[in-house]
Amino acid sequence: MNNLLRALNIHKSFHSGDEEIRVLQGIDIDVNKGDFISITGPSGSGKSTLLHILGGLQHPDKGEVILDGKLLYSHPDRELAKIRNERIGFIFQFHYLLSDFTVLENIMIPLFIKGTNRSVAEEKVKELLLMVDLEDRAHHKPQTLSGGERQRVAVLRAIINQPSLLLADEPTGDLDWEHANTILQMLMDLHKEKEMTIIIVTHNKRVAKIAKNTYNLTKGRLENEM
Ligand SMILES: Nc1ncnc2c1ncn2[C@@H]1O[C@H](COP(=O)(O)OP(=O)(O)OP(=O)(O)O)[C@@H](O)[C@H]1O
Ligand SMILES: [Mg+2]
Repeated sequence: MNNLLRALNIHKSFHSGDEEIRVLQGIDIDVNKGDFISITGPSGSGKSTLLHILGGLQHPDKGEVILDGKLLYSHPDRELAKIRNERIGFIFQFHYLLSDFTVLENIMIPLFIKGTNRSVAEEKVKELLLMVDLEDRAHHKPQTLSGGERQRVAVLRAIINQPSLLLADEPTGDLDWEHANTILQMLMDLHKEKEMTIIIVTHNKRVAKIAKNTYNLTKGRLENEM
């Protein structure tokens, strides 16, 4: 079976006072192993919300998310956390790095949780830091880094476990052209060499184009553009 992730009839609304904001109104998506998908759409259209739902981070109001043939939200919390740590890499739009930990430690967290030996983990992280020009920042705290530097750290944390599914929310948003290219190249290499399945949310048309399949999210619905 080639299907990795499937979402069926996803609905999600938020409430603000008396008002209901209907964000997702019947989203269906089929993701096969090895797909590279981009999702574009206006600000506020629900791209981050959709990615959170696909990544096991937020329950939909209605509809199903199926990962590896199993209902994602039917797993007990602990099991779901394990799946998120080992199978799904998530690059958050707003990074969410832990301020009490150094850059090195932040990236190592998924390895720690899995029980990888510290020196093996450090070695691995340092190799990656070198690739994104952050080798001299390993022992700095995230709050002393620029937005783009934090973003590169967040990308490394998401890919350190070589997840089979990578969900990336604007992974190049704060980056200059050169660093954006490094990140995109890393994602393309992971896609090609490790057959990582990638869903990327972006406002950038150039970034969207590197994906094999592009969707547009507007008015609560997802439209396939190719
Ligand atoms: N926890 C929440 N509580 C209330 N409203 C929310 C919540 N999360 C998202 N929303 C609302 O849902 C809508 C979609 O938000 P979302 O962050 O998914 O949009 P987006 O497409 O990712 O936008 P952007 O391109 O600006 O990142 C917005 O109107 C937002 O205000
Ligand atoms: Mg967003």
